[in-house]
Amino acid sequence: MQTHEIRRRFLDHFISAGHTEVASASLILHDPNLLFVNAGMVQFVPYFLGQQTPPFATATSVQKCVRTLDIENVGHTTRHNTFFQMAGNFSFGDYFKRGAIELAWSLLTKSLDEGGYGFDPERLWVTVYLDDDEAIQIWKDVAGLPDERIQRRGMADNYWSMGIPGPCGPCSEIYYDRGPAYGKDGGPEADEDRYIEIWNLVFMQNERGLGRGKDDFEILGPLPKQNIDTGMGVERVAFLLQGVDNVYETDLVRPVITKAEELTGRQYGSKHEDDVRFRVIADHARTAAMLIADGVNPGNEGRGYILRRLLRRIVRSARLLGADKPVVGEFMSVVRDEMSPSYPELATDFDRIQTVAVGEETAFLKTLTSGSKLFEEAADEVKASGKSVIPGSEAFTLHDTYGFPIDLTLEMAEEAGLTVDEAGFRELMAEQRKRAKEDAQARKHAHADLSVYKELVDRGPTEFTGFDELDTEATVLAIISGGVRQPVAEAGTDVEVILDRSPLYAESGGQIADRGSLSGSGLKAKVNDVQKIAKKLWVHKVTIEQGQLLEGDTVTAHVDPAWRKGATQGHSGTHMVHAALRQVLGPNAVQAGSMNKPGYLRFDFNWQGGLSEAQRDEIERVSNEAVGEDFAVNTFVTDLPSAKKMGAMALFGENYGDEVRVVEIGGPFSMELCGGTHVGSSAQIGPITLLGESAVGSGVRRVEAYVGLDSYKHLAKERALLAGIASSLKVPSDQVPGRVEQIVTRLKAAEKEVERLKAQAVLSSAGSLANGATTAGRFRVVAAKVPGVSANDLRTLAGDIKGRLGSEPAVVALFGDVDDKVPFLVVVNAGGQDAGARAGDLVKSFAPKIGGRGGGKADSAQGAGTDAAGIPAAIADVTAALSGL
Ligand code: ALA
Repeated sequence: MQTHEIRRRFLDHFISAGHTEVASASLILHDPNLLFVNAGMVQFVPYFLGQQTPPFATATSVQKCVRTLDIENVGHTTRHNTFFQMAGNFSFGDYFKRGAIELAWSLLTKSLDEGGYGFDPERLWVTVYLDDDEAIQIWKDVAGLPDERIQRRGMADNYWSMGIPGPCGPCSEIYYDRGPAYGKDGGPEADEDRYIEIWNLVFMQNERGLGRGKDDFEILGPLPKQNIDTGMGVERVAFLLQGVDNVYETDLVRPVITKAEELTGRQYGSKHEDDVRFRVIADHARTAAMLIADGVNPGNEGRGYILRRLLRRIVRSARLLGADKPVVGEFMSVVRDEMSPSYPELATDFDRIQTVAVGEETAFLKTLTSGSKLFEEAADEVKASGKSVIPGSEAFTLHDTYGFPIDLTLEMAEEAGLTVDEAGFRELMAEQRKRAKEDAQARKHAHADLSVYKELVDRGPTEFTGFDELDTEATVLAIISGGVRQPVAEAGTDVEVILDRSPLYAESGGQIADRGSLSGSGLKAKVNDVQKIAKKLWVHKVTIEQGQLLEGDTVTAHVDPAWRKGATQGHSGTHMVHAALRQVLGPNAVQAGSMNKPGYLRFDFNWQGGLSEAQRDEIERVSNEAVGEDFAVNTFVTDLPSAKKMGAMALFGENYGDEVRVVEIGGPFSMELCGGTHVGSSAQIGPITLLGESAVGSGVRRVEAYVGLDSYKHLAKERALLAGIASSLKVPSDQVPGRVEQIVTRLKAAEKEVERLKAQAVLSSAGSLANGATTAGRFRVVAAKVPGVSANDLRTLAGDIKGRLGSEPAVVALFGDVDDKVPFLVVVNAGGQDAGARAGDLVKSFAPKIGGRGGGKADSAQGAGTDAAGIPAAIADVTAALSGL
């Protein structure tokens, strides 16, 4: 059965049982604790916790999931995928254990004709949580399972949570027995490779607190309702139903292996080592494509790092299989062909996915060769010294300079029969991170310990009044200093202030925080920054200038109107530049980040290679024309699917069902999801001046611009600059370019002439130098310092002198002296060589005297030093050596 059919049957089964089909959430949701969505229930967490009321009592979905904790196992086992699809059904206080067990059992065992998967019931086993007698009884009632095919397991296996605080509960897992050929008898407890877990039914009934691992955490208490969360591994069911041996050989994944066979010329299935590499490629290519589709870009941290590591592992595996050309683009095409029926974004966004993936490959290939060389040198050195551990410092250099993920170094070391001092590496990394963090903390408001904010967050969000007014009367809910609450703040201190409401914009969505003040009876305080905690709590960073601030006080929070005006120009200007950029470059120029403040904006976007001057000019023109249209700026709130339907540009990571704010400027020209503050109509932005465009990472470019009055000031400064140049050149401004070109041409000609004259002067000294030749032993010798002569001219000059000395044994040794360097040269004529003089030997012997090195042949040798004071000693050395011959 094809994977797409497995998905379809799952959804149909649950839809016909009254469930609402919900689309998969993006792989990235705004949860700082969760790198990637890793289970079907993630988007429903607020429903389980009772924080939001679900619009349906039961739901079903097939969720995209990424888990990279087991990345080392990929390719080695039958069942580890970094990307997989989790099919699930969910009950929010509707049915509980019995309903979940009935629905799962019937889908698994129903015949193919009846729309089921047709698993042989005799081969199915289940596990339950230790004391869950109720579940055991239901399994017996519903499925008629005998005692020996029901196993009780402990918390680590049968109590499920997300690994972080949130909903949790005991679970019951369903396993399929592949038969004795795949391992020993005894059920899942004995062998999880023979008995493959296909479905997990979680009886979601408690809330977990902090803690560690799978079985070491606190259970805070029951959830408001008894819920169901289940997850069936689509890939696992596919490999079992398709009669193949593992998850890499299913209909959707195997074609990547076939492509890899084609590109590398090797056969899958002939050598275990190679097979692992084929599987790594197949697994990672799919994960990488899905991550890029959801907006992840390769980087050095967090999600970006994972993507980078996946792509680099593909490149290296392909190399080890013998590929000598770029391969990633081809793999992306195969993934698109197989996966786009379920994930159309892979086809619609293909150009961007391709560009990002290939860009990373290109960058990595550049460093792979030099990095591999460094690695091999380090490995040889370790082996030569009879050791087996590559120092942490080498691994750090490979990481820092060549972008080798540590895992790559570890893999390479293993292949070379070595290990790596990982602890040493981590120490160096930690040091580097600490430096970066200190740096960031120095720049930003740090919230190291969040516990002080917890009760305030629980109390509810700060009400933002700043879309409608600049002055708001508010109550001081808390004053915090150094992570501790305090009842009062005195004049002259810096504190954090939490208000119930505030007109001051807290930094987010690229817009930096409003500046303003707090005032009250006798109180004057300056607001230096405003940051959000947990997306809801506004923390005002304040300097008390006069009077006292007490918890419970009523104050007026005030936004500096000039600041706000500039901020709106900056943020609306960013939207204009974004829209112009996409109009000029096309939809692949996807936003990768932005920052704006009064008068200035910068915008980062995915793009390979620099922009041409014509493209830059065009972006600037389109933005300014849109400003000139004086488009009205409209904002409204809607749900995510409606906003997307309208064509609003959404950054990734919004949750299904989230309410979103749309900012629309000039209808289709610009429509973005955005929570920022904006001008009333586009003309209020004022002129936009692009400052330039640069690279900020692999495949990411940045444009910067001034807006409003700062834009004018910038242009005025440039005009004054031009006027200054024009007056120095004594021509009108419009003739400056022609005049400068003229001057440059003349200057070049003059420099050439100077060079020519200098060379002439040097060469003309050949005669007098030859006339001053001395005798040393059997040799005529010219040994002299000729200051200001380059190494090149030294050679010409020495040749000339040698010619003038005739055929008797002769040696010429010349020393230059230019820019703190002492180039030197020795030539010996044929007679001199017959008499035993060797230019190379002479140079080697005197070079240390002038702090340098050199060498060459018998007739000519050269080198360079740095110490001109040693020249007389070197000359003496030459004479002495020749006298002795
Ligand atoms: N949330 C459960 C799991 O991921 C179903 O296994």
